[in-house]
Amino acid sequence: MSTPTELEALEPNRFDVDLGAVRGNVAALRELVGPDCALYAALKCNAYGFGLVPAAQALAEAGLDAVCVARIRDGIALREGGVMLPVLLYAGAVTTPELVAAVERYRLTPTILDLASARVFSDNLTEELPVFVKVDVGQRRLGVEPRRLATFAAAVAAMPKLRIEGIYTHLTVPEDPVPAGHLEKQFSLFQACLQEVEELGLSVPVRMAASSSVLRLSDRMSLNAVDPGRMFFGVVPDGPVTRGLPFRSALVSLRSRLLQVKELDDDERRPVALVPVTPGMRVGILALGTADGLGVVSAPHVLVRGRPAPIIEPISLEHCRVDLSGIPDAAAGDEVVVIGKQGDDEITIDDVVVHRGLKADKHNIAINIRDSVPRKHSG
Ligand SMILES: Cc1ncc(COP(=O)(O)O)c(C=O)c1O
Repeated sequence: MSTPTELEALEPNRFDVDLGAVRGNVAALRELVGPDCALYAALKCNAYGFGLVPAAQALAEAGLDAVCVARIRDGIALREGGVMLPVLLYAGAVTTPELVAAVERYRLTPTILDLASARVFSDNLTEELPVFVKVDVGQRRLGVEPRRLATFAAAVAAMPKLRIEGIYTHLTVPEDPVPAGHLEKQFSLFQACLQEVEELGLSVPVRMAASSSVLRLSDRMSLNAVDPGRMFFGVVPDGPVTRGLPFRSALVSLRSRLLQVKELDDDERRPVALVPVTPGMRVGILALGTADGLGVVSAPHVLVRGRPAPIIEPISLEHCRVDLSGIPDAAAGDEVVVIGKQGDDEITIDDVVVHRGLKADKHNIAINIRDSVPRKHSG
């Protein structure tokens, strides 16, 4: 029986992540928000595709204050992976006594969204628990309605075993150009909400509203804590505030290998082929397909032996064909680069974006590299 490490060596696909870039981005963010602002990292979606536990460990080493995840299973994975930082749950499970027990057992910090959930926590906790409250100032997604926040917070704070540690929101940020006043309107509403809470005599130690897009556009919304996500992986476009700061992309490369190389015979199969083939064409097959995100994260070609090999679409679920006619020396086992450098040539994220016409999700490319492709972390 092979060990997991031996099996990994057989795996032809690889997504390389530079954790050095992630650590450096913590330092760049510190510079941006100053030493007194707490850094929370939103690590949704397997840390935006970069690998939850290794990313959180690198962030912790670089001095991050807390991480945030949407799913309870991610909170548990962080603890089981040895991550000791505070973990804020953005609310990803219905509140039941079982959830409360898991939150306590794994020392997670839940977000409270309604009184019924607050009561389930209060009734089932064995010890006092710090909790966060989320207010919805624009998203119309999770969060308490602004005009109800103060009375809601007061009711939660009065419940046994619940201690409000923070109040946060997630501002909407449309694609560029952002209309004048768009962020400011939501931010003023958030500040007014916080003030009302304070006027009831409640203290709110952590106040948080700034995601990556907010931080790149405004330097006045950091309050005393921020919770960007993508920024830690260097996949946010420059903005007026962040331009010139040394944020670096943690996405190094997506690589595979040629499983088979063959010259196609011209015979009776030509009319039934799913793809356009020409007699004598040299085709290579890779072990990467749409199930690995390839239909989203590829340029028109891959690199083999430092030269471009066009992808022959459509891409199958777990395989893909490339045209090796221009690379006669290509052989089974050769490395294939989908994103990254090979020899003097390179396929960049921008090449992928242009080819696939990606817009809003262009800075989430790594999310699309599915978890079927093993992550290799370095740096
Ligand atoms: C509540 C909350 N805060 C912060 C973020 C981080 O956003 P970004 O990756 O754009 O920084 C998210 C992401 O969805 C979020 O839901």
